[in-house]
Amino acid sequence: MRELERKPSSDTHVRTLRTVAELRAALAGPRRAGRTIGLVPTMGAFHEGHLSLMRHARADCDETVVSLFVNPTQFDQEADLGAYPRDEARDAALAAQAGVDLLFAPPLAEVYPPGFATTVSVAGLTETLEGSHRGHAHFDGVATVVTKLLNMVMPDVAYFGHKDAQQALVIERLVRDLDLPVRIEVCPTVREPDGLAMSSRNARLSASERGRATALARALRAAQEAVAAGARDPALARAAALAELRCAQIEPEYLAFVSPDTLTPVRALDGDVLAVVAARVGDTRLIDNHLLKDGSA
Ligand code: PAJ
Repeated sequence: MRELERKPSSDTHVRTLRTVAELRAALAGPRRAGRTIGLVPTMGAFHEGHLSLMRHARADCDETVVSLFVNPTQFDQEADLGAYPRDEARDAALAAQAGVDLLFAPPLAEVYPPGFATTVSVAGLTETLEGSHRGHAHFDGVATVVTKLLNMVMPDVAYFGHKDAQQALVIERLVRDLDLPVRIEVCPTVREPDGLAMSSRNARLSASERGRATALARALRAAQEAVAAGARDPALARAAALAELRCAQIEPEYLAFVSPDTLTPVRALDGDVLAVVAARVGDTRLIDNHLLKDGSA
């Protein structure tokens, strides 16, 4: 990954833009010169998961743009939106260290001007798992803002995390359905040393909740081990995973074994199966997933 060394890591400044007009002006030159543009859409509060997407973009593309916009339309609970961590100065410094060229941090009215009336809605994929637990407005909000960000930046490649596997699938589908000229790259989930998938929401966990939260990753691992030991009945793997959650007094909102392409429940654990879990730990809602590859990953 020599590419990552192009900018000194002591660089603590990233150019921050607020309007679509500024963004387009800043990208016009590089685009004309044939330079490739990578976009990492985010809602800020950067952790290693976000930074890994930025490093992927930087390794693949000539210009890396990160968008930072806490999108209100995808929050199903007002309190969740209010409590969402925001620290643009810290994020800008981390983005600079990761070698990001442009930070696009528009105000609300730049994204949703008065009279805004259009929604991008992906059917099917959004009706299950996160969609059925958070309501359809969540993925409508995600699909609409991501479509807008792709049109604003017009990147060659846009980067998303497998941590939000359903979101990545929804975005791949909308890009295909709307013929958006962009390649979607889905990057691996970055975890804490104890297995907890990194998330901006982890900061809200109390010390004891933080300990219990590791049960999500342990549950997925237990499912994987059951499969590796020969279990083909999803009920067996589910029981192994549930046992881990119950040890930590966690009752999942869902714990399912689904097709990684369609998100429909599988009848048997062979071929590629995505194990998905969502649970509240205290007041904090966490999600995680693991691809059980060919029943032996
Ligand atoms: P946000 O939660 O900030 O996440 C931004 C990107 O980082 C998403 O693609 C997400 O999947 C990825 N990500 C989060 N945690 C990760 C981890 N532990 N490992 C790898 N990648 C991780 O997802 C959103 O924002 C929004 O819905 C957005 C797409 C920006 C639309 O508003």
